[in-house]
Amino acid sequence: MVNLEKEIKRRRTFGIISHPDAGKTTLTEKLLLFGGAIQEAGAVKSNKIKKTATSDFMEIERQRGISVATSVLAFLYKGKKINILDTPGHKDFAEDTFRTLSAVDSVIVVIDVAKGVEEQTEKLVEVCRMRQIPMIIFINKLDREGKDAFDLLDEVEQKLGLRVIPLSFPIGMGYDFKGIYNIYEKNINLFSGDNKKNIEETIAFDDLNNAELEEIIGSSAAETLRENLELVEGVYGDFDLQDYLDGKLQPVFFGSALNNFGVRELLDCFVNIAPAPHSKMAEERLVHASEKELSGFVFKIHANMDPKHRDRLAFVKIVSGTFERNKPYLHVRHNKRLKFSSPNAFFAQKKEIVDMSYPGDIVGLHDTGNFKIGDTLTEGEQLHYRGIPSFSPEHFRYINNADPLKAKQLYKGIDQLMDEGVAQLFTLNLNGRKVIGTVGALQYEVIQYRLEHEYGAKCTYENFAAHKACWVDSRESDADELAEFERVKHRYLATDKQGQLVFLADSAFSLQMTIDKYPSVKLHYSSEFA
Ligand code: G4P
Repeated sequence: MVNLEKEIKRRRTFGIISHPDAGKTTLTEKLLLFGGAIQEAGAVKSNKIKKTATSDFMEIERQRGISVATSVLAFLYKGKKINILDTPGHKDFAEDTFRTLSAVDSVIVVIDVAKGVEEQTEKLVEVCRMRQIPMIIFINKLDREGKDAFDLLDEVEQKLGLRVIPLSFPIGMGYDFKGIYNIYEKNINLFSGDNKKNIEETIAFDDLNNAELEEIIGSSAAETLRENLELVEGVYGDFDLQDYLDGKLQPVFFGSALNNFGVRELLDCFVNIAPAPHSKMAEERLVHASEKELSGFVFKIHANMDPKHRDRLAFVKIVSGTFERNKPYLHVRHNKRLKFSSPNAFFAQKKEIVDMSYPGDIVGLHDTGNFKIGDTLTEGEQLHYRGIPSFSPEHFRYINNADPLKAKQLYKGIDQLMDEGVAQLFTLNLNGRKVIGTVGALQYEVIQYRLEHEYGAKCTYENFAAHKACWVDSRESDADELAEFERVKHRYLATDKQGQLVFLADSAFSLQMTIDKYPSVKLHYSSEFA
């Protein structure tokens, strides 16, 4: 189908990742401005959970409500359909971000020039690196004093384990910031220094030895730039597109999102080099985007914040084929056909009903509890997409029912919240008690609040001392050793929602002892290890 291939080729679905405050929201907004999706700066509501809100879960929920609209921001640029999948920066919602990364075809990493590589960046980039997701790096806030460009490139390589290649290079920095030499396009962008205004002048400049350089940026800056670019060429070599696409080489751009500087260059290069949707590995086989039959998977479920409309929105990434309104699709886990009369597409900051979506697109499906994160939709084939594992939570608490008359509501509520991926549920093998594991402490408040307001159930928590949840892999275990492990560690064994066996280690020390004592029983920090 010619049309399908054409549509696939023009799609770019990506995520922007960064440590909070590096400038992700600002960059997103500037990209949308270029795409004409918004008309003025300040129009994108920040989806970040503000630090001050940590104890105010109403505020968190309100902010998460806003994020439905900004979950997928789509716009057209130079004939390409760009889908930005938003990722929450707050570390308590890191799992949301990991899951969203299963639905992107590439990412842009934003780094603050003064702060360099920060903790959240390290964690997120590691996930992208392991999955070989192509990454472009944007070093932001060049209008401020920051680290030396070469030092920063070294830091990125060392801390993030990447191999970088600068495709632009700053001329000065902070007070002395004059502009950027765009290595990719061979031109100079002059920074007017007029804060907050989008004034820039681009001068084509492919011969750096031309004496005009002195006239444009001054003699000392010209000399430094020549030296720097010589060093860039000597140290980093040439850009290799295939290496970038294979996740082995990461191009770097410099700029200032706030001043809209260096952003167009980033976007122009991005639409040129970033991959269109290509293929995805299912448990059964490799599925190509250009296959005629639809397949897609749920990577995010968002509860409706309006109590009058309890339905949820399941976000489905289309992997192959076309998604058509009112056509019956197979919900593989339930082995049931479902039809969707009002699938939502996302455009700019709006969502609207759409008749047809293509690979790379995200459709939002209204759901009354059928979907769970990781579910696959197909036209009949049994396909299961992987890459949405659960990771070991950091916090663990028993959950108790505080209103005996509402037990049913409580369990339904817990069940659905877990399907949304708010937290993880473990049932202790010893006594059937339920333990909730979360990435951040914040989620306990969110769960309690939502159980009460959405399901009319009340819960209390009780401390449960656990250090890590480890998924038990006994495929190659020695039978006697496994039996002893299960007998000795009975108190610490639990079952997750998928029925997998989990070892809840009470301390780092006991975990290490267990690993040493039962070497054939493999313990994993993530639920997907096959
Ligand atoms: P985030 O989504 O990654 O968390 O970061 P966000 O875009 O919200 O940016 C964090 C702060 O950094 C904001 O300032 C923003 O204005 C500022 N910023 C972003 N890009 C640049 C840049 O290129 N140069 C400079 N100097 N600052 C930049 P804030 O004071 O926290 O918020 P606001 O009051 O300005 O919105």
